Amino acid sequence: MPEYVTVATVEEIPPGTGRTVQVQGIGIALYNVEGAFYAVDNTCPHAGGPLGEGHLDGCLVECPWHGWQFNLRTGERPENPDITVARCLVRIEENQVQVALPEDFST
Ligand code: FES
Repeated sequence: MPEYVTVATVEEIPPGTGRTVQVQGIGIALYNVEGAFYAVDNTCPHAGGPLGEGHLDGCLVECPWHGWQFNLRTGERPENPDITVARCLVRIEENQVQVALPEDFST
C-alpha cells in the first residue's frame, strides 16, 4: 500500500502554481494544473535542477536551469519521450493534498 503524506492544503497551491514538498525525505515537485494536482521527482534528470521551482505552461513544467520540459501527466520530455521524470501518486482528502511514492519510484 502506498503511504500518503499530507503536503499542503488545496488553497495553498492555486491553479498554475507549484512548489517543492518533502515525501519520506525525498523532494517532490507538486503542481496544480487547472485544478488537478500532479507530483513528480523534484530532481531534473538532465543535471539535477529543481523542477519544483520551474515554470508551468499548461501541463508542462520547464526546468529553471536549462529549460528542459516535462509533461506532468506522463512524466515524459516532449522532445524525447525516452527521458522521463518519476511520477508520484496524488489524492485530495478533505481539502488536503496528499502524495505517495509509488512502489517502483526511483530518483
Ligand atoms: S538540469 Fe534541468 S534542464 Fe538542465
